[in-house]
Amino acid sequence: MISSNPVLAAITEQVIASFAETENPRLREVLESLVKHLHAFAEDTQLSFDEWMVGIQFLSRVGQMCDDKRQEFILLSDTLGLSMFVDAVNHPDADGATETTVLGPFYVPPLAESAHGSDIAKGTPGVPMYAECQVLADGLPLSDAWVDVWQSDDDGYYDVQKPGQIENLRARFRTDADGRFTFWSIVPTFYPIPDDGPVGDMLKATSRHPYRPAHIHFMIGKDGFETLVTHLFIDGDKYLTSDAVFGVKKSLIISLADGEPRTRGSGDHVPAHKRLVHSFGLRKVD
Ligand SMILES: [Fe+2]
Repeated sequence: MISSNPVLAAITEQVIASFAETENPRLREVLESLVKHLHAFAEDTQLSFDEWMVGIQFLSRVGQMCDDKRQEFILLSDTLGLSMFVDAVNHPDADGATETTVLGPFYVPPLAESAHGSDIAKGTPGVPMYAECQVLADGLPLSDAWVDVWQSDDDGYYDVQKPGQIENLRARFRTDADGRFTFWSIVPTFYPIPDDGPVGDMLKATSRHPYRPAHIHFMIGKDGFETLVTHLFIDGDKYLTSDAVFGVKKSLIISLADGEPRTRGSGDHVPAHKRLVHSFGLRKVD
């Protein structure tokens, strides 16, 4: 990967040599590889000064866009496929466990645990959905696992995107003795990733749409097991084959069934709703 041009190769080798005293061997390995790839990229593309400056300014804007609610760097990583690439490098084989996908930029740890059967939509308009899920490990129910759930509303927004919005459409549950957890929500819809910043500019410049197919996020963990970060995608969504962040895996696409009329939470009657029935598999830490 080091250039065959001796002038260029000398620069790369000089930078690599500068890391010789790095105490942390992994840091040294990562930095050496990064420098080799960055230099090879500049040679491959014959990067001009103007283009280099465009890149500097772009990355500066990505950083300036970040705050405690907006993570433009994760969005950049997601839209360049880096997040899914790192996911694939680290999960070469699901080995019976549920497949993983991107965390995304909208995860916030929930404030408290919710009771099974809670309505996490809290009156948000949308088609009611009742989720009946189970967490398994080696095919057996996994009790006392924590389960974080988060999703967008019917307009495609997460609570953290709305100024002053309280925690909504996100919750933490704990699996019962049978590994189960249940909750009410609404059927998610497709939505655009935030495209009013530099990542959106990149999508427009490359004629890409910003949409993600309808999905619900899950993060599930328990001591001794690998924490699962995944989504469930709703079958039939028109963006399943062109997710802006490349996060769709076939095994994560589910169909919602029609639910029988039933009572929700403190007693309201829900005549028509959708049912999400799914089992997740966790894997023991090696
Ligand atoms: Fe999402």
